[in-house]
Amino acid sequence: MTAEPMRDWFDRAGVRVDPRRVLTDELDGGKVLFPARLIPYLGHRLVDRLDDEARAALVARHTYHYFAFTAHFETRVVNRATEMLANGRADVPLRRDVRFDAYKIYCDEAYHALYSFDVVRQLESANRVAALPYDFTPFLNRLDGISSDVMPRRGTLPQLLQVVVFETLVTTLLAELPNDPDLVGLVRETVRDHARDEGRHHAFFAHLFRELWAGLDPAARRETARCLPRLIGHSLRPDLRPARANLAAAGLTPAQVEEVVRDVYHPDSVRRGAREQAVQSVKLFRSCGVLDLPEGLDAFHEEGLL
Ligand SMILES: [Fe+2]
Ligand SMILES: [Fe+2]
Repeated sequence: MTAEPMRDWFDRAGVRVDPRRVLTDELDGGKVLFPARLIPYLGHRLVDRLDDEARAALVARHTYHYFAFTAHFETRVVNRATEMLANGRADVPLRRDVRFDAYKIYCDEAYHALYSFDVVRQLESANRVAALPYDFTPFLNRLDGISSDVMPRRGTLPQLLQVVVFETLVTTLLAELPNDPDLVGLVRETVRDHARDEGRHHAFFAHLFRELWAGLDPAARRETARCLPRLIGHSLRPDLRPARANLAAAGLTPAQVEEVVRDVYHPDSVRRGAREQAVQSVKLFRSCGVLDLPEGLDAFHEEGLL
């Protein structure tokens, strides 16, 4: 049985039906690129006293980073695993028609990456704030490091779990940006297009996880239970490197950058944010019995997700 949400893919997927989103002259009309409330450092006193131009550049670069991260994540994490599913290379038993759906998701994610890149290009040329160089590799290495720590000998399973985790999270940004009337249409509509596709992916990957979990032996289940919350935590923790780079580009000294980071990314508030955004994923894993294992319960507690 095909997961229902992917069945209408040819008629509903963004890559099949959505128009290219194009920037209009809304920037002159007072619309913003990103909601200030979702840029934690914008309200810090050291940032608050910067001039309007520097603050606008901070917002622009924060926006660029969101889309650059998306483009990298889709192509280098989601589609790395989706390709294995599509080509039948995952070394876990799965029903045959997973492959057909996986090819659809592969196309979706590639398109999400393309339009994320497109958004940055359009914004860069319109507001003349250049994007800073962005290196996704450290984030990816940490993600892969979690899996290889906890489950070094599980073949393709760790990479599948990475994607199950990310695809079943409902991030604040995907939930809030599409409905924010203050955003420029290019950003709002692009994120809305993306969120629609991700709603379908969410159902597919929740389904996939149930199937995966059902096929795991007890030892693999224990490792999976320990791995999942750490993957959730890493996926939802703010990446501080681009934040630091952005603050430095705005003229803050290294000591000031560290002060801002320390003040606005306090471990308690970071954990609280992760817990709120992980509710749906935790519910899924709980319903599958992951938290019935002592290893699972401990690991989810340790990550602050319960
Ligand atoms: Fe996506
Ligand atoms: Fe997705």
